[in-house]
Amino acid sequence: MSAPPAQLSLRRPDDWHVHLRDGALLQAVLASTAAQFGRAIVMPNLSPPITTVAAALAYRQRILAALPDGSGFTPLLTAYLTDTIDPAELERGFGEGVFAACKLYPANATTNSAAGVSDLANLSALFETLERLGMPLLIHGEVTDAEIDIFDREAVFIERHLEPLLRRHPGLKVVLEHITTAEAAAFVAASSANLAATITPHHLHINRNALFRGGLRPDMYCLPVAKREQHRLALRAAAISGNPRFFLGTDSAPHPRHAKEAACGCAGIFNAPYAIESYALAFEQEGALDRLEAFASEFGPRFYGLPLNEERITLVRESVSVPARLHLNDAAGEAVELVPFHAGELLPWRLA
Ligand code: DOR
Ligand code: ZN
Repeated sequence: MSAPPAQLSLRRPDDWHVHLRDGALLQAVLASTAAQFGRAIVMPNLSPPITTVAAALAYRQRILAALPDGSGFTPLLTAYLTDTIDPAELERGFGEGVFAACKLYPANATTNSAAGVSDLANLSALFETLERLGMPLLIHGEVTDAEIDIFDREAVFIERHLEPLLRRHPGLKVVLEHITTAEAAAFVAASSANLAATITPHHLHINRNALFRGGLRPDMYCLPVAKREQHRLALRAAAISGNPRFFLGTDSAPHPRHAKEAACGCAGIFNAPYAIESYALAFEQEGALDRLEAFASEFGPRFYGLPLNEERITLVRESVSVPARLHLNDAAGEAVELVPFHAGELLPWRLA
């Protein structure tokens, strides 16, 4: 393998799946995402969730107000689907440019998903609306059936729900979010141009052993949970494949350290502060640095039908030491303690 370049210039990437939270935590974590990405698809799983155009507009204002001065970051908001959401509200929000997409959480699949969808079969009128509008449907693809082993929940979701949904609605534009399995990567690769997937940095770096290395590791716990090594390798192959239907989505999902390191710790990995550095490392390890820009900065906007960012970023070949803990200031000036992904590691690329 040839020596890595001294620096790497990329079109500014976008994050097609992130949790920016609200209130104090929003203030603490937003700058990390805004420093790296031009735009981000912002998840609606707040408490209460974003289910109306008015709630999305107000949330967008809170995000913009929390941005550091001079930031060019643009949040792209999403609507949280429930069993009773009115398709007309989605149509209005999409038409007015407030909703960029909608998000389907199977009820009780993950953080703040209790109000999610209990049966996809109830939503066929809504799916027809999305199909007609070309409004992307972003899916947390896991069954919630307690009988199904947690490591199989994504593969079973594809078989039981996603495949039939796409058959019923062939015009539906879908992103299968944060894929974690070889089955998901193969399903997306084999399907039509209407189905894409996001891949997180953590699922490119860790397998399920990371959860138990030397003891129980709450910082490595997220949903869908990391799988076996063969799946991590399949995700790496998909990410570097050059297939435009695999693109960047960090699923950065911050929870304060006390909420992770608890008797019933929250799911979510906070990877925003070193996200592009983390992807760069994975692509370098695969000898595919030349494919990073398309994955990070081109395939996502093309799928969403948005212009590419014109601005560029530079990654410098200098190691950066990731702190074991971050103390980020919230709106009240109080520090929130968070453990970043790659805590305590040296990464070989630094964002200039
Ligand atoms: O690990 C996760 N955390 N997965 C999700 O689907 C939700 C997220 C969160 O909001 O904390
Ligand atoms: Zn997420």
